[in-house]
Amino acid sequence: MHGIIATWRMALEGVQKADAMLKEGNQAADAIETAIREVEDYPYYKSVGYGGLPNQDGVLQMDAGYMDGGSLSIGAVCAIEDFANPVSIARKLSNGTVNNILVAEGAAAFGKEYGFEQKKMLTDRAKRIYEKKKAELAENDQLRPYDGHDTVGMVCVDDQSHVIAATSTSGLFMKRNGRIGDSPFVGSGFYADEEIGGATATGLGEDIMKGCISYEIVRRMGEGMPVQQACETAVNQLDKKLKKRRGQAGDISVVAMDNKGNWGCATNIDGFSFVVATQQSAPVVWLAHRTEDGHTVFEKAGQQWLDEYMHNHSAAVE
Ligand code: GLY
Repeated sequence: MHGIIATWRMALEGVQKADAMLKEGNQAADAIETAIREVEDYPYYKSVGYGGLPNQDGVLQMDAGYMDGGSLSIGAVCAIEDFANPVSIARKLSNGTVNNILVAEGAAAFGKEYGFEQKKMLTDRAKRIYEKKKAELAENDQLRPYDGHDTVGMVCVDDQSHVIAATSTSGLFMKRNGRIGDSPFVGSGFYADEEIGGATATGLGEDIMKGCISYEIVRRMGEGMPVQQACETAVNQLDKKLKKRRGQAGDISVVAMDNKGNWGCATNIDGFSFVVATQQSAPVVWLAHRTEDGHTVFEKAGQQWLDEYMHNHSAAVE
């Protein structure tokens, strides 16, 4: 029984490739890396890889994480600059017994040593969006500087029940130099245990980390909770706790899959999109909504939504 689940519509083309690989009998590790690289390579996604938006100094710094749910091996890079595929470096780092998480220059030195592709990742389009935002903020300091939280996170299960979770992001637009969110942190941005399943998160990293939410979902699944219930209760409890203790909660959305290919999703926002492919079902884009009583319901994205998505993402920057 195989399957893959991923955050946001941007994952669709990657999930299609991974789904074909899984159907041909490839391993989850290769399928998920291929899927995330596809998102990293696409120039119009503003919060992952090539085309991602920079920090407040105009520098694109990326984070990625990888976990093998069999050996529990982890690898991650933080604030890495000008490498085409941070997820591949994270996967490579997961092979070691130490030095699994590397930051900035250390991550870049490792990437160079092992021959990972170096690439100027800040596109002209991303630079234009940055310059426009900087000018707006200079004129009106009431504007919210931080935008964009669309980490790509995936959980993949293959026919041998291997479970892998991985993430990649350029993090918050206009973040401070060196700021890191949840995405490269095991337990917060992603978690996998092949005796149970895996989970991954997207949203405001600073708040997601306060609940170690990916670990929390897998832990609940391990105690016998169905995957959808594990996602919903974890998101709702963290959302409630943050509102009680801090007066507000940032965006939190999660997806998860157990080792039999059952999947779930929960969100505290309206209109979170995600993509799922299973042995029985071709890749589908879903739209999730939170109901007033705290449940997450989903519907298949219609053609109009899909068309508007592509149009908006590739529209010219004025
Ligand atoms: N969730 C991605 C970030 O906060 O950087």
